[in-house]
Amino acid sequence: MGLLRLLQPLSREAGREAGLPPRLSREREESSRLSAKKPGEAAGEGPYEAFLRRQEKYAAAVVLACAISAALAKTSWAGPAGDAARGETLYEACQDCHSLDKNDVGPRHRGVFGRKAASLPDYDYSDALKSANIIWNEETLDKWLTDPQAVAPGAKMFFHLDSPQDRADVIAYLKERAK
Ligand code: HEC
Repeated sequence: MGLLRLLQPLSREAGREAGLPPRLSREREESSRLSAKKPGEAAGEGPYEAFLRRQEKYAAAVVLACAISAALAKTSWAGPAGDAARGETLYEACQDCHSLDKNDVGPRHRGVFGRKAASLPDYDYSDALKSANIIWNEETLDKWLTDPQAVAPGAKMFFHLDSPQDRADVIAYLKERAK
């Protein structure tokens, strides 16, 4: 504290040397430093200070927006973390109709994560899924496996998984092991 008290008069002293009125508040000292005003003009806020202040606010808003969108990008999928090994076991239920590499009752699954729905040229999809226009990711697969008919009414798949954890595990399996 002692040091601060010593420094304050010093900066006032420096202000006087630059031709600024004495007893400037700390804020004014700050803004006059930023705006590099001519000596003697620091008493009120001119349009330039106002402009600078707006600029600072704008920059702060941009930084905040970037931080928020980065946070959102990381956490865009808020469901439970999936366990691919457990998902592999659960996938046995899907194998009544699907396999990774061969079309069966349902389309083959290799590479399905990240693929557009109904995009295999050699599988006969329903019109409902063909016109659904979705990309398979955690969110869309979770909806699909919760209730395919809600995603694409009239689709040819009715099977669903009730447990959010089971869905996350199967999705992790498709994402990590069925590339
Ligand atoms: C009783 C049969 C059956 C079962 C069981 C089944 N599905 Fe399907 N699935 C289908 C059919 C049929 C389609 C094609 C839907 C359409 O064309 O409307 C399909 C489509 C899909 C698609 C879309 C693929 C693409 O190329 O767009 C995914 C993803 C999918 N199933 C995942 C699964 C998963 C994961 C399981 C197990 C948890 C599962 N399915 C269980 C019959 C089944």
